[in-house]
Amino acid sequence: MPNSIKINRKVGQFNKTITVSGDKSISIRWVLFSSLANGVSKSTNLLMSEDVLAAINAIKVLGIKSTIKKNICKIYGKGIDGYQYRKNLTLNAKNSGTLGRLILGLLINNSNTIKLIGDKSLSKRDFKRVTDPLSKFGAKFKLNEKKKLPLIMSGVDSPKSIKYIEKKGSAQCKSAVIFAGMRAEGTTVINAKKSRDHTELLCKHLNLPISIKYRKTYDEIKIKKVNKIKKLNYNIPSDISSSAFFIVLTALSRNSELLIKKVNINKSRIGIIDILRKMGVEIKFENKKIYKGEKIADIKIKSAKSIKPINCPEKLNSGAIDEFLVIFLVAAKANGISYFKGLSELNQKESPRLQWGSKILKKMGIKNIVTKSTIKIFGNPDLEIKKKIIIKDFLKDHRVFMTSVIAALSFGGSWKINDKDAIKTSFPKFLKIINDLKKE
Ligand code: S3P
Repeated sequence: MPNSIKINRKVGQFNKTITVSGDKSISIRWVLFSSLANGVSKSTNLLMSEDVLAAINAIKVLGIKSTIKKNICKIYGKGIDGYQYRKNLTLNAKNSGTLGRLILGLLINNSNTIKLIGDKSLSKRDFKRVTDPLSKFGAKFKLNEKKKLPLIMSGVDSPKSIKYIEKKGSAQCKSAVIFAGMRAEGTTVINAKKSRDHTELLCKHLNLPISIKYRKTYDEIKIKKVNKIKKLNYNIPSDISSSAFFIVLTALSRNSELLIKKVNINKSRIGIIDILRKMGVEIKFENKKIYKGEKIADIKIKSAKSIKPINCPEKLNSGAIDEFLVIFLVAAKANGISYFKGLSELNQKESPRLQWGSKILKKMGIKNIVTKSTIKIFGNPDLEIKKKIIIKDFLKDHRVFMTSVIAALSFGGSWKINDKDAIKTSFPKFLKIINDLKKE
């Protein structure tokens, strides 16, 4: 079986209802919180992807049992001090920055040495951003090339609370420190540039000693030592980042309509909706609900008759951080020049994504000017690709793969896209849903 996919035809019209997989950020957090809970926690609709399975495997290495049967995952937590630290323990975060960074916070009070490793892509990413604040709790780290995996960590028996300013807008850094703060004496105070707040919402739902002051750009979070976490049954909502591919496909196709069921529409995650609405795409939320502090809704999208260019406000960046590659495809069809700025963090992802965004657009024949943190995209509302395009060597970045598929289905041309296994990281059902849409 070749591990590449060929696409030679645009998607036809469709009018469908789909359900995408469970949210990756919430799934990984559910696994980590449940691993320290008292008793058996149960989830439905947990994302069954490699990143989440890596989390389940990591807690297994720490002595926490779990079972997966059909759509139900159970985690048998042994309480806040329930981890077992064998000698020379190695945890493998595989491709997952979220797992690799968050779990370090939970290991802060263990003075044995632990090695953290990851795959080729994760081993290129910056871990100093989390080991710096975690060192302030008293933990010691040895990092490869001073900032990367593999790393060796030894925590401290009684970590002391810290004050921390998170300036990158990274939910992973913020969450790692919240987790460490849960294990430290005293009150850990975090001033964090806005980013997704699933960790905070779970802490609140579990009645943990957290307080949050939501402010304009920096939120203030205070967390105290946690003695007990109650078991956490959770029905994971669908992932807006996975929905994004279908939102864009619908926006770019002709006379189509799509309903995506029960998606997490947390305010810190819907940057793509705000951006696309500004570009003239019609998107509606229906059946809004609140579930355990998280907002959920069905998302209805219609094909856009024309697309306006955008000078994207920087404040929308953090809520759309995983979606920019597909957002650039919308800009490619806009009636004018779009500009995105403040995006240096995109090059810190599974691949240098700002560069990849530019590369894909260039291959499509869309002029763009990219710097380390900005991109100017010269849209072409009449774009029809006629040539052959090959996408390869992208560090198996799942979002580069899926964005390329959406580009092929939206603009035509003859595409060969390598490494289709990349979808297993976050969205194994992706190609199945694409095939179902084509059947219309
Ligand atoms: C995530 C946070 C974001 C995001 C990643 C998932 C999380 O990363 O890009 O896909 O679950 O906390 P950063 O915290 O590095 O911005």
